Amino acid sequence: MSSYDVAVIGSGPGGYVAAIRCAQLGMKTAIIEKYATLGGTCLNVGCIPSKALLDSSHHYEDAIKHFDTHGIEIPGEVKVNLEKMISRKQAVVDQTTGGIDFLMKKNKIDVFQGIGSFKDATNINITKEDGTVEAIQAKNTIIATGSKPSSLPFIKIDKERVITSTEALKLKEVPKHMIVIGGGVIGLELGQVYKRLGAEVTVVEYLDRIIPGMDGACSKELTKVLKKQKIKFALSHKVKSVERNGNEVVVKADNKKGEEVTFTGDYCLVAVGRHAYTDGLNLEAAGIKQEERGRVAVNEHLQTNVSNIYAIGDVIKGAMLAHKAEEEGTLVAEILAGQKPHIDYNLIPGVVYTWPEVAAVGKTEEQLKEAGVAYKVGQFPMRALGRARASMDIDGFVKIIADKNTDEVLGVHMVGARVADLISEAVVAMEFRASAEDIARMSHAHPTYAEAVKEAALAATEDRPIHI
Ligand code: FAD
Ligand code: NAI
Repeated sequence: MSSYDVAVIGSGPGGYVAAIRCAQLGMKTAIIEKYATLGGTCLNVGCIPSKALLDSSHHYEDAIKHFDTHGIEIPGEVKVNLEKMISRKQAVVDQTTGGIDFLMKKNKIDVFQGIGSFKDATNINITKEDGTVEAIQAKNTIIATGSKPSSLPFIKIDKERVITSTEALKLKEVPKHMIVIGGGVIGLELGQVYKRLGAEVTVVEYLDRIIPGMDGACSKELTKVLKKQKIKFALSHKVKSVERNGNEVVVKADNKKGEEVTFTGDYCLVAVGRHAYTDGLNLEAAGIKQEERGRVAVNEHLQTNVSNIYAIGDVIKGAMLAHKAEEEGTLVAEILAGQKPHIDYNLIPGVVYTWPEVAAVGKTEEQLKEAGVAYKVGQFPMRALGRARASMDIDGFVKIIADKNTDEVLGVHMVGARVADLISEAVVAMEFRASAEDIARMSHAHPTYAEAVKEAALAATEDRPIHI
Protein backbone atom coordinates (compact mmCIF):
# COMPACT_ATOMS: atom_id res chain seq x y z
CA MET A 1 0.00 0.00 0.00
CA SER A 2 1.33 3.50 -0.85
CA SER A 3 1.81 5.77 2.09
CA TYR A 4 2.09 9.55 2.17
CA ASP A 5 2.97 12.39 4.49
CA VAL A 6 -0.17 14.14 3.28
CA ALA A 7 -3.26 13.12 1.34
CA VAL A 8 -5.49 15.89 0.03
CA ILE A 9 -9.09 14.96 -0.76
CA GLY A 10 -10.49 17.28 -3.43
CA SER A 11 -8.59 19.17 -6.14
CA GLY A 12 -10.29 22.59 -6.16
CA PRO A 13 -8.30 25.77 -5.48
CA GLY A 14 -8.06 24.76 -1.82
CA GLY A 15 -6.91 21.21 -2.46
CA TYR A 16 -4.51 21.67 -5.36
CA VAL A 17 -2.80 24.66 -3.74
CA ALA A 18 -2.47 22.73 -0.46
CA ALA A 19 -0.94 19.81 -2.36
CA ILE A 20 1.56 22.02 -4.20
CA ARG A 21 2.60 23.82 -1.01
CA CYS A 22 3.00 20.49 0.83
CA ALA A 23 5.17 19.17 -1.99
CA GLN A 24 7.22 22.39 -2.06
CA LEU A 25 7.87 21.90 1.64
CA GLY A 26 9.22 18.41 1.06
CA MET A 27 6.21 16.28 1.98
CA LYS A 28 5.28 13.18 -0.01
CA THR A 29 1.85 14.19 -1.25
CA ALA A 30 -1.19 12.56 -2.85
CA ILE A 31 -4.31 14.26 -4.19
CA ILE A 32 -7.62 12.45 -4.66
CA GLU A 33 -10.27 13.79 -7.02
CA LYS A 34 -13.49 12.06 -7.93
CA TYR A 35 -13.86 13.77 -11.31
CA ALA A 36 -11.67 13.13 -14.36
CA THR A 37 -10.42 16.71 -14.42
CA LEU A 38 -8.64 18.52 -11.61
CA GLY A 39 -9.49 22.04 -10.44
CA GLY A 40 -12.78 21.54 -8.58
CA THR A 41 -15.79 23.82 -8.79
CA CYS A 42 -13.74 26.91 -9.49
CA LEU A 43 -11.97 25.74 -12.62
CA ASN A 44 -14.64 23.39 -14.01
CA VAL A 45 -18.03 24.92 -13.21
CA GLY A 46 -17.33 28.11 -11.26
CA CYS A 47 -14.94 31.04 -11.44
CA ILE A 48 -13.28 30.32 -14.77
CA PRO A 49 -16.22 29.30 -17.00
CA SER A 50 -18.45 32.04 -15.57
CA LYS A 51 -15.79 34.67 -16.29
CA ALA A 52 -15.29 33.26 -19.79
CA LEU A 53 -19.01 33.73 -20.51
CA LEU A 54 -19.05 37.15 -18.86
CA ASP A 55 -16.21 38.21 -21.14
CA SER A 56 -17.80 36.79 -24.31
CA SER A 57 -21.20 38.31 -23.58
CA HIS A 58 -19.54 41.62 -22.74
CA HIS A 59 -17.90 41.70 -26.18
CA TYR A 60 -21.28 41.01 -27.78
CA GLU A 61 -22.95 43.78 -25.81
CA ASP A 62 -20.20 46.21 -26.75
CA ALA A 63 -20.61 45.27 -30.40
CA ILE A 64 -24.37 45.80 -30.48
CA LYS A 65 -24.66 48.72 -28.07
CA HIS A 66 -21.41 50.64 -27.80
CA PHE A 67 -19.32 50.26 -30.93
CA ASP A 68 -21.48 52.73 -32.83
CA THR A 69 -20.79 55.49 -30.26
CA HIS A 70 -17.07 54.84 -30.69
CA GLY A 71 -17.45 55.34 -34.44
CA ILE A 72 -17.24 51.67 -35.31
CA GLU A 73 -19.83 50.52 -37.78
CA ILE A 74 -20.55 46.86 -38.40
CA PRO A 75 -22.21 46.19 -41.73
CA GLY A 76 -24.91 43.54 -41.30
CA GLU A 77 -26.29 41.96 -38.19
CA VAL A 78 -24.16 40.98 -35.19
CA LYS A 79 -25.30 37.56 -34.03
CA VAL A 80 -24.62 35.30 -31.08
CA ASN A 81 -23.38 31.79 -31.81
CA LEU A 82 -24.10 30.31 -28.40
CA GLU A 83 -22.68 26.91 -29.24
CA LYS A 84 -19.37 28.50 -30.20
CA MET A 85 -19.40 30.74 -27.14
CA ILE A 86 -19.93 27.75 -24.87
CA SER A 87 -17.26 25.72 -26.63
CA ARG A 88 -14.74 28.59 -26.28
CA LYS A 89 -15.59 28.64 -22.58
CA GLN A 90 -14.93 24.90 -22.44
CA ALA A 91 -11.62 25.32 -24.21
CA VAL A 92 -10.59 27.87 -21.57
CA VAL A 93 -11.65 25.42 -18.84
CA ASP A 94 -9.76 22.53 -20.48
CA GLN A 95 -6.62 24.60 -20.82
CA THR A 96 -6.84 25.68 -17.18
CA THR A 97 -7.54 22.23 -15.72
CA GLY A 98 -4.78 20.82 -17.94
CA GLY A 99 -2.49 23.34 -16.27
CA ILE A 100 -3.24 21.73 -12.91
CA ASP A 101 -2.27 18.29 -14.30
CA PHE A 102 1.04 19.85 -15.29
CA LEU A 103 1.53 21.40 -11.84
CA MET A 104 0.85 18.06 -10.14
CA LYS A 105 3.49 16.37 -12.30
CA LYS A 106 5.94 19.22 -11.84
CA ASN A 107 5.62 18.93 -8.06
CA LYS A 108 5.68 15.11 -8.08
CA ILE A 109 2.26 14.84 -6.50
CA ASP A 110 0.51 11.49 -7.02
CA VAL A 111 -2.98 11.97 -8.45
CA PHE A 112 -5.70 9.40 -7.70
CA GLN A 113 -9.00 9.56 -9.53
CA GLY A 114 -11.91 8.28 -7.46
CA ILE A 115 -14.03 8.99 -4.43
CA GLY A 116 -11.93 9.33 -1.30
CA SER A 117 -13.43 7.98 1.90
CA PHE A 118 -12.00 7.44 5.35
CA LYS A 119 -11.46 3.91 6.57
CA ASP A 120 -10.04 5.37 9.75
CA ALA A 121 -7.94 8.42 10.65
CA THR A 122 -4.89 7.31 8.64
CA ASN A 123 -6.31 5.02 5.95
CA ILE A 124 -8.21 6.23 2.92
CA ASN A 125 -10.06 4.17 0.35
CA ILE A 126 -10.32 5.46 -3.19
CA THR A 127 -13.29 4.05 -5.10
CA LYS A 128 -12.77 4.32 -8.84
CA GLU A 129 -15.40 4.63 -11.52
CA ASP A 130 -15.20 0.90 -12.32
CA GLY A 131 -15.94 0.06 -8.67
CA THR A 132 -12.44 -1.06 -7.76
CA VAL A 133 -10.99 0.26 -4.53
CA GLU A 134 -7.43 1.35 -3.92
CA ALA A 135 -6.24 2.03 -0.39
CA ILE A 136 -3.58 4.49 0.69
CA GLN A 137 -2.16 5.49 4.03
CA ALA A 138 -1.62 9.11 5.07
CA LYS A 139 0.02 10.56 8.16
CA ASN A 140 -2.04 13.70 7.63
CA THR A 141 -5.12 14.37 5.54
CA ILE A 142 -6.53 17.65 4.28
CA ILE A 143 -10.25 17.59 3.46
CA ALA A 144 -10.91 20.00 0.57
CA THR A 145 -14.15 18.61 -0.82
CA GLY A 146 -15.78 21.99 -1.43
CA SER A 147 -19.44 22.72 -1.87
CA LYS A 148 -22.53 22.07 -4.01
CA PRO A 149 -25.42 24.35 -4.98
CA SER A 150 -28.18 24.69 -2.40
CA SER A 151 -31.85 24.72 -3.29
CA LEU A 152 -35.16 25.28 -1.54
CA PRO A 153 -37.03 22.27 -0.14
CA PHE A 154 -39.94 22.58 -2.56
CA ILE A 155 -37.84 23.00 -5.71
CA LYS A 156 -37.06 20.11 -8.00
CA ILE A 157 -33.89 20.93 -9.92
CA ASP A 158 -34.48 19.08 -13.19
CA LYS A 159 -31.21 20.40 -14.72
CA GLU A 160 -33.09 21.29 -17.93
CA ARG A 161 -35.38 24.22 -17.17
CA VAL A 162 -35.00 24.50 -13.42
CA ILE A 163 -31.25 24.76 -13.17
CA THR A 164 -28.24 25.63 -11.04
CA SER A 165 -25.13 27.53 -12.11
CA THR A 166 -23.60 24.30 -13.44
CA GLU A 167 -26.29 23.92 -16.13
CA ALA A 168 -26.46 27.68 -16.75
CA LEU A 169 -22.85 27.51 -17.93
CA LYS A 170 -23.77 25.20 -20.82
CA LEU A 171 -27.25 26.12 -22.07
CA LYS A 172 -28.07 25.22 -25.65
CA GLU A 173 -30.24 28.27 -26.27
CA VAL A 174 -30.58 31.79 -24.96
CA PRO A 175 -33.60 31.79 -22.65
CA LYS A 176 -36.54 34.00 -23.54
CA HIS A 177 -37.14 34.79 -19.89
CA MET A 178 -34.79 33.57 -17.20
CA ILE A 179 -36.15 33.82 -13.69
CA VAL A 180 -33.26 33.97 -11.25
CA ILE A 181 -33.97 33.04 -7.64
CA GLY A 182 -31.38 34.81 -5.49
CA GLY A 183 -29.80 38.22 -6.04
CA GLY A 184 -26.35 37.11 -4.87
CA VAL A 185 -23.13 36.69 -6.80
CA ILE A 186 -24.15 33.80 -9.06
CA GLY A 187 -27.61 35.16 -9.84
CA LEU A 188 -26.23 38.53 -10.90
CA GLU A 189 -23.17 37.33 -12.82
CA LEU A 190 -25.05 34.67 -14.81
CA GLY A 191 -28.19 36.79 -15.00
CA GLN A 192 -26.12 39.49 -16.68
CA VAL A 193 -24.59 37.00 -19.13
CA TYR A 194 -28.03 35.95 -20.41
CA LYS A 195 -29.44 39.49 -20.30
CA ARG A 196 -26.62 40.61 -22.59
CA LEU A 197 -27.30 37.70 -24.93
CA GLY A 198 -30.92 38.78 -25.30
CA ALA A 199 -32.91 37.10 -22.51
CA GLU A 200 -35.36 38.89 -20.32
CA VAL A 201 -34.05 38.42 -16.78
CA THR A 202 -36.00 38.77 -13.53
CA VAL A 203 -34.17 38.42 -10.23
CA VAL A 204 -36.40 37.34 -7.34
CA GLU A 205 -34.66 38.06 -4.04
CA TYR A 206 -35.86 37.27 -0.52
CA LEU A 207 -34.15 40.25 1.14
CA ASP A 208 -34.76 43.93 0.41
CA ARG A 209 -31.48 44.29 -1.48
CA ILE A 210 -29.16 42.43 -3.81
CA ILE A 211 -25.58 41.32 -2.83
CA PRO A 212 -26.75 41.52 0.79
CA GLY A 213 -23.35 40.88 2.44
CA MET A 214 -21.72 43.87 0.75
CA ASP A 215 -21.78 47.56 1.67
CA GLY A 216 -25.24 49.08 1.17
CA ALA A 217 -23.88 51.74 -1.18
CA CYS A 218 -22.58 49.02 -3.53
CA SER A 219 -25.94 47.22 -3.52
CA LYS A 220 -27.71 50.47 -4.36
CA GLU A 221 -25.34 51.45 -7.17
CA LEU A 222 -25.33 47.97 -8.73
CA THR A 223 -29.14 47.80 -8.57
CA LYS A 224 -29.36 51.18 -10.31
CA VAL A 225 -26.97 50.17 -13.09
CA LEU A 226 -28.47 46.71 -13.63
CA LYS A 227 -31.93 48.26 -13.81
CA LYS A 228 -30.61 50.60 -16.52
CA GLN A 229 -29.49 47.43 -18.31
CA LYS A 230 -33.13 46.30 -18.03
CA ILE A 231 -32.65 43.49 -15.55
CA LYS A 232 -35.82 43.34 -13.46
CA PHE A 233 -35.79 42.95 -9.69
CA ALA A 234 -38.46 41.62 -7.36
CA LEU A 235 -36.91 42.33 -3.94
CA SER A 236 -38.44 41.27 -0.62
CA HIS A 237 -40.13 38.37 -2.40
CA LYS A 238 -40.35 35.01 -0.71
CA VAL A 239 -40.44 32.27 -3.32
CA LYS A 240 -42.91 29.52 -2.39
CA SER A 241 -43.19 27.36 -5.45
CA VAL A 242 -41.44 26.57 -8.71
CA GLU A 243 -43.25 24.44 -11.24
CA ARG A 244 -42.35 23.28 -14.69
CA ASN A 245 -45.01 22.71 -17.33
CA GLY A 246 -43.32 21.58 -20.53
CA ASN A 247 -41.07 24.42 -21.65
CA GLU A 248 -42.58 26.85 -19.17
CA VAL A 249 -41.47 27.50 -15.61
CA VAL A 250 -43.82 29.20 -13.16
CA VAL A 251 -42.39 30.75 -10.01
CA LYS A 252 -44.73 31.95 -7.29
CA ALA A 253 -43.62 34.24 -4.48
CA ASP A 254 -45.16 36.36 -1.74
CA ASN A 255 -44.23 40.03 -1.85
CA LYS A 256 -43.69 42.29 1.20
CA LYS A 257 -47.43 42.85 1.55
CA GLY A 258 -48.07 39.11 1.52
CA GLU A 259 -49.62 39.20 -1.96
CA GLU A 260 -48.89 36.34 -4.33
CA VAL A 261 -46.86 37.29 -7.40
CA THR A 262 -46.40 34.92 -10.35
CA PHE A 263 -43.40 34.94 -12.69
CA THR A 264 -43.53 32.92 -15.88
CA GLY A 265 -40.42 32.11 -17.86
CA ASP A 266 -38.72 29.35 -19.80
CA TYR A 267 -35.76 28.84 -17.42
CA CYS A 268 -35.37 29.25 -13.68
CA LEU A 269 -31.85 29.61 -12.27
CA VAL A 270 -31.76 28.69 -8.59
CA ALA A 271 -28.90 30.64 -6.98
CA VAL A 272 -29.66 30.73 -3.27
CA GLY A 273 -26.22 29.83 -1.97
CA ARG A 274 -24.05 26.73 -1.67
CA HIS A 275 -23.46 24.20 1.07
CA ALA A 276 -20.50 22.17 2.29
CA TYR A 277 -20.07 18.85 0.47
CA THR A 278 -19.01 15.79 2.45
CA ASP A 279 -21.02 12.99 0.78
CA GLY A 280 -19.09 9.76 0.45
CA LEU A 281 -16.24 10.89 2.73
CA ASN A 282 -17.33 8.58 5.54
CA LEU A 283 -16.30 11.16 8.15
CA GLU A 284 -17.73 8.97 10.94
CA ALA A 285 -15.13 6.27 10.32
CA ALA A 286 -12.41 8.71 11.30
CA GLY A 287 -14.55 10.29 14.03
CA ILE A 288 -14.58 13.75 12.40
CA LYS A 289 -17.16 16.18 13.75
CA GLN A 290 -19.38 18.43 11.68
CA GLU A 291 -21.06 21.68 12.66
CA GLU A 292 -24.13 23.51 11.36
CA ARG A 293 -25.05 23.13 7.71
CA GLY A 294 -22.87 20.05 7.38
CA ARG A 295 -19.60 21.97 7.49
CA VAL A 296 -16.52 20.18 8.81
CA ALA A 297 -15.73 21.72 12.21
CA VAL A 298 -12.19 23.11 12.56
CA ASN A 299 -10.20 25.12 15.11
CA GLU A 300 -8.12 28.25 14.33
CA HIS A 301 -5.41 26.06 12.78
CA LEU A 302 -8.05 24.49 10.50
CA GLN A 303 -7.54 21.23 12.34
CA THR A 304 -10.55 18.99 12.90
CA ASN A 305 -11.23 17.27 16.22
CA VAL A 306 -9.00 14.45 14.88
CA SER A 307 -5.48 15.86 15.23
CA ASN A 308 -3.96 14.62 11.94
CA ILE A 309 -6.93 15.70 9.80
CA TYR A 310 -7.45 19.27 8.58
CA ALA A 311 -10.11 20.88 6.42
CA ILE A 312 -10.07 23.95 4.16
CA GLY A 313 -12.13 25.95 1.67
CA ASP A 314 -15.87 25.78 1.04
CA VAL A 315 -16.29 22.68 3.22
CA ILE A 316 -15.56 24.73 6.36
CA LYS A 317 -16.92 28.00 7.76
CA GLY A 318 -16.28 31.36 6.11
CA ALA A 319 -16.58 32.97 2.70
CA MET A 320 -16.97 30.52 -0.17
CA LEU A 321 -14.24 32.00 -2.33
CA ALA A 322 -11.45 30.42 -4.33
CA HIS A 323 -8.74 32.72 -2.95
CA LYS A 324 -9.89 32.05 0.63
CA ALA A 325 -9.58 28.30 -0.04
CA GLU A 326 -6.12 28.85 -1.54
CA GLU A 327 -4.87 30.78 1.50
CA GLU A 328 -6.18 28.05 3.75
CA GLY A 329 -4.45 25.36 1.68
CA THR A 330 -1.15 27.19 2.07
CA LEU A 331 -1.77 27.74 5.78
CA VAL A 332 -2.33 24.05 6.54
CA ALA A 333 0.69 22.97 4.49
CA GLU A 334 2.89 25.41 6.39
CA ILE A 335 1.48 24.34 9.74
CA LEU A 336 2.31 20.74 8.83
CA ALA A 337 5.84 21.86 8.01
CA GLY A 338 6.16 23.38 11.48
CA GLN A 339 5.75 27.00 10.41
CA LYS A 340 3.46 29.59 12.03
CA PRO A 341 1.38 31.03 9.19
CA HIS A 342 -1.56 33.38 9.62
CA ILE A 343 -4.60 34.47 7.61
CA ASP A 344 -6.32 37.80 8.21
CA TYR A 345 -9.86 36.90 7.17
CA ASN A 346 -10.84 40.57 7.31
CA LEU A 347 -8.54 41.17 4.36
CA ILE A 348 -9.95 38.55 1.98
CA PRO A 349 -11.47 40.64 -0.80
CA GLY A 350 -14.88 39.91 -2.31
CA VAL A 351 -15.64 40.59 -5.96
CA VAL A 352 -18.72 40.44 -8.16
CA TYR A 353 -17.74 40.21 -11.82
CA THR A 354 -20.74 41.94 -13.31
CA TRP A 355 -20.02 45.05 -15.34
CA PRO A 356 -19.56 47.36 -13.61
CA GLU A 357 -17.68 45.12 -11.20
CA VAL A 358 -18.09 45.33 -7.44
CA ALA A 359 -15.15 44.77 -5.11
CA ALA A 360 -14.66 45.16 -1.41
CA VAL A 361 -12.31 44.48 1.46
CA GLY A 362 -12.58 45.08 5.19
CA LYS A 363 -15.62 46.31 7.05
CA THR A 364 -18.82 47.66 5.54
CA GLU A 365 -20.41 50.82 6.85
CA GLU A 366 -23.24 48.72 8.28
CA GLN A 367 -20.79 46.52 10.22
CA LEU A 368 -18.95 49.52 11.67
CA LYS A 369 -22.23 51.18 12.69
CA GLU A 370 -23.32 48.00 14.43
CA ALA A 371 -19.96 47.67 16.21
CA GLY A 372 -20.19 51.31 17.35
CA VAL A 373 -16.89 52.29 15.69
CA ALA A 374 -16.44 56.02 14.93
CA TYR A 375 -15.60 56.30 11.24
CA LYS A 376 -15.45 58.74 8.35
CA VAL A 377 -16.19 58.12 4.69
CA GLY A 378 -14.59 59.41 1.51
CA GLN A 379 -16.30 58.64 -1.78
CA PHE A 380 -15.36 59.51 -5.33
CA PRO A 381 -17.50 58.89 -8.44
CA MET A 382 -15.97 57.14 -11.43
CA ARG A 383 -17.65 59.62 -13.79
CA ALA A 384 -15.27 62.35 -12.55
CA LEU A 385 -12.26 60.45 -13.95
CA GLY A 386 -10.83 61.23 -17.36
CA ARG A 387 -10.08 57.52 -17.89
CA ALA A 388 -13.69 56.56 -17.17
CA ARG A 389 -15.00 59.14 -19.60
CA ALA A 390 -12.55 57.98 -22.29
CA SER A 391 -13.84 54.44 -22.04
CA MET A 392 -17.42 55.55 -21.25
CA ASP A 393 -17.44 53.34 -18.15
CA ILE A 394 -18.70 56.07 -15.89
CA ASP A 395 -20.86 54.12 -13.42
CA GLY A 396 -19.73 53.48 -9.89
CA PHE A 397 -17.47 54.92 -7.22
CA VAL A 398 -14.72 54.18 -4.75
CA LYS A 399 -15.67 54.50 -1.10
CA ILE A 400 -13.04 54.45 1.62
CA ILE A 401 -14.02 54.14 5.25
CA ALA A 402 -11.39 55.19 7.77
CA ASP A 403 -11.24 55.33 11.54
CA LYS A 404 -12.45 58.77 12.63
CA ASN A 405 -9.65 59.20 15.17
CA THR A 406 -6.64 57.40 13.69
CA ASP A 407 -7.43 57.66 9.93
CA GLU A 408 -6.63 53.93 9.55
CA VAL A 409 -8.44 52.45 6.56
CA LEU A 410 -11.15 50.06 7.82
CA GLY A 411 -12.95 49.19 4.62
CA VAL A 412 -12.83 49.90 0.89
CA HIS A 413 -15.84 49.39 -1.37
CA MET A 414 -15.88 49.90 -5.10
CA VAL A 415 -18.22 49.69 -8.04
CA GLY A 416 -16.85 50.33 -11.51
CA ALA A 417 -14.74 49.21 -14.43
CA ARG A 418 -11.90 46.88 -13.42
CA VAL A 419 -12.42 47.33 -9.68
CA ALA A 420 -11.82 43.57 -9.32
CA ASP A 421 -8.19 44.43 -10.02
CA LEU A 422 -8.17 47.79 -8.21
CA ILE A 423 -9.17 46.21 -4.90
CA SER A 424 -5.66 44.76 -4.55
CA GLU A 425 -4.33 48.24 -3.79
CA ALA A 426 -6.74 48.45 -0.86
CA VAL A 427 -5.74 44.98 0.36
CA VAL A 428 -2.06 45.93 0.34
CA ALA A 429 -2.78 49.23 2.07
CA MET A 430 -4.85 47.57 4.78
CA GLU A 431 -2.34 44.74 5.24
CA PHE A 432 0.21 47.42 6.09
CA ARG A 433 -2.39 49.25 8.21
CA ALA A 434 -2.28 52.34 6.02
CA SER A 435 -4.14 55.51 6.89
CA ALA A 436 -6.36 57.14 4.27
CA GLU A 437 -3.73 59.89 4.12
CA ASP A 438 -1.03 57.33 3.20
CA ILE A 439 -3.06 56.37 0.12
CA ALA A 440 -3.94 59.99 -0.64
CA ARG A 441 -0.26 61.00 -0.72
CA MET A 442 0.83 58.19 -3.09
CA SER A 443 1.17 58.95 -6.78
CA HIS A 444 -1.44 57.18 -8.94
CA ALA A 445 -0.81 57.03 -12.67
CA HIS A 446 -2.93 59.30 -14.83
CA PRO A 447 -5.30 58.58 -16.47
CA THR A 448 -6.35 55.42 -14.63
CA TYR A 449 -9.36 54.12 -12.72
CA ALA A 450 -6.97 53.87 -9.77
CA GLU A 451 -7.07 57.64 -9.43
CA ALA A 452 -10.51 57.17 -7.89
CA VAL A 453 -8.79 55.37 -4.99
CA LYS A 454 -6.49 58.32 -4.36
CA GLU A 455 -9.39 60.78 -4.64
CA ALA A 456 -11.58 58.77 -2.25
CA ALA A 457 -8.67 58.67 0.19
CA LEU A 458 -8.26 62.45 -0.12
CA ALA A 459 -11.98 62.78 0.57
CA ALA A 460 -11.74 60.52 3.61
CA THR A 461 -8.63 62.23 5.01
CA GLU A 462 -9.45 65.90 4.82
CA ASP A 463 -12.48 66.10 2.60
CA ARG A 464 -10.31 67.60 -0.11
CA PRO A 465 -10.64 65.60 -3.33
CA ILE A 466 -9.11 67.43 -6.28
CA HIS A 467 -11.41 66.55 -9.16
CA ILE A 468 -14.88 67.12 -7.67
P1 FAD B 1 -14.14 22.94 -4.81
O1 FAD B 1 -13.56 23.86 -5.78
O2 FAD B 1 -15.57 22.80 -4.67
O3 FAD B 1 -13.39 21.56 -5.01
C1 FAD B 1 -13.73 20.42 -4.30
C2 FAD B 1 -13.34 19.22 -5.12
O4 FAD B 1 -13.43 18.07 -4.28
C3 FAD B 1 -14.26 18.94 -6.29
O5 FAD B 1 -13.50 18.78 -7.46
C4 FAD B 1 -14.96 17.63 -5.93
O6 FAD B 1 -15.23 16.81 -7.04
C5 FAD B 1 -13.93 16.98 -5.04
N1 FAD B 1 -14.48 16.00 -4.11
C6 FAD B 1 -15.56 16.12 -3.28
N2 FAD B 1 -15.72 15.03 -2.53
C7 FAD B 1 -14.73 14.17 -2.89
C8 FAD B 1 -14.37 12.88 -2.46
N3 FAD B 1 -15.02 12.25 -1.49
N4 FAD B 1 -13.31 12.29 -3.07
C9 FAD B 1 -12.62 12.92 -4.04
N5 FAD B 1 -12.93 14.15 -4.46
C10 FAD B 1 -13.96 14.77 -3.90
N6 FAD B 1 -14.98 32.13 -6.19
C11 FAD B 1 -14.14 33.16 -6.40
O7 FAD B 1 -13.28 33.43 -5.55
N7 FAD B 1 -14.21 33.91 -7.53
C12 FAD B 1 -15.13 33.67 -8.49
O8 FAD B 1 -15.17 34.37 -9.50
C13 FAD B 1 -16.04 32.60 -8.29
N8 FAD B 1 -16.98 32.33 -9.21
C14 FAD B 1 -17.82 31.27 -9.02
C15 FAD B 1 -18.79 31.03 -9.97
C16 FAD B 1 -19.67 29.98 -9.81
C17 FAD B 1 -20.73 29.72 -10.86
C18 FAD B 1 -19.55 29.14 -8.67
C19 FAD B 1 -20.46 27.97 -8.49
C20 FAD B 1 -18.59 29.39 -7.70
C21 FAD B 1 -17.73 30.46 -7.87
N9 FAD B 1 -16.76 30.77 -6.92
C22 FAD B 1 -15.93 31.84 -7.11
C23 FAD B 1 -16.61 29.98 -5.69
C24 FAD B 1 -15.43 29.01 -5.85
O9 FAD B 1 -15.66 28.18 -6.95
C25 FAD B 1 -15.29 28.17 -4.57
O10 FAD B 1 -15.19 29.02 -3.46
C26 FAD B 1 -14.04 27.32 -4.66
O11 FAD B 1 -14.10 26.45 -5.77
C27 FAD B 1 -13.88 26.49 -3.38
O12 FAD B 1 -12.74 25.72 -3.49
P2 FAD B 1 -12.56 24.34 -2.71
O13 FAD B 1 -11.19 23.87 -3.06
O14 FAD B 1 -12.90 24.53 -1.29
O15 FAD B 1 -13.64 23.36 -3.29
P1 NAI C 1 -25.11 34.04 -2.40
O1 NAI C 1 -25.05 33.71 -0.98
O2 NAI C 1 -24.13 35.01 -2.98
O3 NAI C 1 -26.54 34.65 -2.75
C1 NAI C 1 -27.72 33.96 -2.51
C2 NAI C 1 -28.85 34.96 -2.55
O4 NAI C 1 -30.05 34.23 -2.53
C3 NAI C 1 -28.84 35.92 -1.36
O5 NAI C 1 -29.02 37.22 -1.83
C4 NAI C 1 -30.03 35.43 -0.55
O6 NAI C 1 -30.64 36.45 0.20
C5 NAI C 1 -30.92 34.88 -1.64
N1 NAI C 1 -31.90 33.90 -1.18
C6 NAI C 1 -31.71 32.92 -0.26
N2 NAI C 1 -32.86 32.21 -0.10
C7 NAI C 1 -33.76 32.76 -0.94
C8 NAI C 1 -35.13 32.49 -1.23
N3 NAI C 1 -35.77 31.52 -0.61
N4 NAI C 1 -35.75 33.24 -2.15
C9 NAI C 1 -35.09 34.25 -2.79
N5 NAI C 1 -33.81 34.56 -2.55
C10 NAI C 1 -33.16 33.82 -1.64
O7 NAI C 1 -25.07 32.65 -3.16
P2 NAI C 1 -24.87 32.28 -4.68
O8 NAI C 1 -25.05 33.45 -5.55
O9 NAI C 1 -25.66 31.07 -4.91
O10 NAI C 1 -23.32 31.90 -4.69
C11 NAI C 1 -22.84 30.83 -3.86
C12 NAI C 1 -21.44 31.07 -3.44
O11 NAI C 1 -20.55 31.02 -4.53
C13 NAI C 1 -21.28 32.42 -2.80
O12 NAI C 1 -21.05 32.23 -1.43
C14 NAI C 1 -20.10 33.05 -3.42
O13 NAI C 1 -19.12 33.34 -2.48
C15 NAI C 1 -19.56 32.03 -4.42
N6 NAI C 1 -19.40 32.72 -5.69
C16 NAI C 1 -18.46 33.69 -5.78
C17 NAI C 1 -18.33 34.42 -6.92
C18 NAI C 1 -17.34 35.51 -6.94
O14 NAI C 1 -16.48 35.55 -6.09
N7 NAI C 1 -17.41 36.41 -7.91
C19 NAI C 1 -19.15 34.18 -8.10
C20 NAI C 1 -20.14 33.15 -7.88
C21 NAI C 1 -20.23 32.46 -6.73
